Amino acid sequence: MKNYNYPDKNGQFGQYGGKFVPPALENVLKEVERAYLELRDDPKFIKELNYLHRVYTGRPSPLYLADSLTKNAGGAKIYLKREDLNHTGAHKINNTLGQALVARKLGKTKLIAETGAGQHGVAVATVAAKFGMECDIYMGERDVVNQHINVYRMKLLGARVVPVTTGQKTLKDAIDVALGAFINEPETYYMLGSAVGPHPYPMMVRDFQSVIGREAKKQILKAEGRLPDYAVACVGGGSNALGLFYEFIPDEEVKLVAVEPAGKGADTNQHGLALGKGKLGVIHGFKCLVLQDDQGEIMESYSAASGLDYPGVGPEFCLLKDLGRVETVGVTDVEAVEAFQLLSETEGIIPALESAHAVFYAVKLAGQLDQDRVIVVNLSGRGDKDVKNVYENLINKEK
Ligand SMILES: Cc1ncc(COP(=O)(O)O)c(C=O)c1O
Repeated sequence: MKNYNYPDKNGQFGQYGGKFVPPALENVLKEVERAYLELRDDPKFIKELNYLHRVYTGRPSPLYLADSLTKNAGGAKIYLKREDLNHTGAHKINNTLGQALVARKLGKTKLIAETGAGQHGVAVATVAAKFGMECDIYMGERDVVNQHINVYRMKLLGARVVPVTTGQKTLKDAIDVALGAFINEPETYYMLGSAVGPHPYPMMVRDFQSVIGREAKKQILKAEGRLPDYAVACVGGGSNALGLFYEFIPDEEVKLVAVEPAGKGADTNQHGLALGKGKLGVIHGFKCLVLQDDQGEIMESYSAASGLDYPGVGPEFCLLKDLGRVETVGVTDVEAVEAFQLLSETEGIIPALESAHAVFYAVKLAGQLDQDRVIVVNLSGRGDKDVKNVYENLINKEK
């Protein structure tokens, strides 16, 4: 796919994206866009961000041939892009370090953000500590319980964690309240954690995450002398998946597979299959495919993985799906927990429950392919935050 160049100047990815916000926010978002566009091409900014990634994040993250997992799957080679090894334990830091430099350029002294699994919240609290900024993190009360280790981490880093008790008490509600707080405190900087929300966030977050795919391409060319046959990643809002896929969009021989949470099953009402089952709508200030009932009301999503529990999805993914450039599949909670255990037992790597969705699909796919085929999976985060919940609530301990 040559000449792929989105968003347009209005922040549209085809019919998706844009900016549907009250006038008070419109101007603030224009400022953020202006600051980002100025920085994006500034060699000093690029140098500083690259430096921070090298010495603070620990980039480049390794691309690891998971040989035991590959043997277990019995087919294609499975490589893991080890975003779990980044400082703070997930891909989220790629975005928050970049946005911290944007906030600093704008002279902001306070960050606010939403979080689902707590990984983005930790990554925001981390950069707030590092850059000497105040920090409020909004988190659904249900996620506060499931991901309490990350709540302690955020607090230790000096952030205020605000439990959100409205709605379903998960990520969607946390974004609702955080956006509300941003409207009331426009002097703060709102650090969105995925490739969602009003323009310029989907573009900016994608750009900051695309370091994943740039590295992975170089690494796989070095390891295999060719591009992979598949790139596979889990999709909540879409930032780790786009981060891996963006560099490969022009390389049509690389199939891009977006793994969504099928929760308790695609045929139940408890899933987060926005790409698979959503309809065009507006959520959190942008247009995308979003889970809706027959009356067009936004439906609740569900996944055991808090970071995937979102009824919408990034606008660029919706476009890539329409263009036929990404394939979308669903993986259930039960399957993700199976992969969580399998990766732990075969490779000694405990993945985030979110990332385990991608691992499950990659193993299944590998088993159907010849041994000379190559799959790159984005291991978006590590599972420390999930261990207690998985161990106490989700697995059969007799095993
Ligand atoms: C480890 C991990 N992977 C994936 C996700 C999903 O987000 P995204 O789709 O933006 O990568 C999250 C979100 O919290 C996460 O913590």
